[in-house]
Amino acid sequence: MDAYIARIGDLVVIGNVRPAVASLAAYRPGKGAEQAEAEHGIIDAIKLASNENPYDTVPTVAAAIAAAASGVNRYGDHRAVDLRAAIGAWLGVDQNAVTVGCGSVGLLQQLCLSYVDPGDEVVYPWLSFEAYPVNVKMMAGVPVTVPLIDHRFDLQAVADAVTPRTKIVMLATPNNPTGTAVHAADIKQLLEAISDDVIVLVDEAYREFMSGDFGDPVHDLVPHHRNVIVTRTFSKAYGLAGLRSGYAVADPDIVGELDKVLLAFAVNSLAQAGALAAIGAMDEIQPKIDILLMERDRVVEAVSGAGWKLPDAQANFIYIPVGASASELSAGLERRGVVVRPFAGEGIRVTIGTPAQNDRFLSNFLELTG
Ligand SMILES: Cc1ncc(COP(=O)(O)O)c(C=O)c1O
Repeated sequence: MDAYIARIGDLVVIGNVRPAVASLAAYRPGKGAEQAEAEHGIIDAIKLASNENPYDTVPTVAAAIAAAASGVNRYGDHRAVDLRAAIGAWLGVDQNAVTVGCGSVGLLQQLCLSYVDPGDEVVYPWLSFEAYPVNVKMMAGVPVTVPLIDHRFDLQAVADAVTPRTKIVMLATPNNPTGTAVHAADIKQLLEAISDDVIVLVDEAYREFMSGDFGDPVHDLVPHHRNVIVTRTFSKAYGLAGLRSGYAVADPDIVGELDKVLLAFAVNSLAQAGALAAIGAMDEIQPKIDILLMERDRVVEAVSGAGWKLPDAQANFIYIPVGASASELSAGLERRGVVVRPFAGEGIRVTIGTPAQNDRFLSNFLELTG
């Protein structure tokens, strides 16, 4: 055997890779439309698999990004000072309570880098965002998962799962993939039930699609609980997924720890320009969000009308708990050019697209399941 190759169980390891990384599965992004076309020999496939915004970036934001392109011979502003200040003013919070990351998933990684030592526990409901286990395991942390009840979080069980080894609790609201949200008042109850040295991440990647009835953790929780961090993103509602910019609101002490582990210049200058412009272009962006919300209601109604019981959809996707047929149904849709995200044995997650894309999903879904 080559001197640099070793085996850990079934794993072949070259060099001295950390066991925590060697045992990780590689990240698999949602399948793209072109890939599905090539695999199935079809044309005109549509991707409803990654919860992206189906609409082009709005003109004002596209122009700001184009204008920033002429400066990319220079590094961007590592601290993104203007963007932090703009987010602070936009949300009505102190700019020292704001930080930015390379997508909100970048902030998730920073949070784990800052708070999780090997053997530390991180508690989250499951099913939830697939990046949670990856980032916890990367640090040799121990994921502690709490089953959903009827596709919703059981926050009492989450509180009960917290131990003296728990460093972080992760709550995606709305949750990916189920789409259900939790009320800020219920998170407050959880915070009061657990030790305040446990960081509670409130991951609001889909905030803009959620009903206002669920409260606002930035104002309802962060000022009163120094251990809360709220993350949000420009990827989804603002249509900037390809540029990678997300932000967090938390106590300035948490912000300071996250900032220490931010990869140099991770929020690049185009991402900063796009996010800054988006904050000022809500008159162009909000109508597109409104269309997506109307379309979500229409798709929910059509699928429910066919007899499927759906969890409350609060994001830009719906979750259909089809159970054992999830993989087969998803493959069937894909052969017809509609790429959705299967969760084997559980359900399928379908991103809300343009009205024409949603029609295409609906007619194929209803035919395949009818
Ligand atoms: C719950 C949740 N959080 C965070 C993210 C990360 O989004 P981004 O890194 O693009 O901000 C996603 C993306 O799918 C998500 O579903």
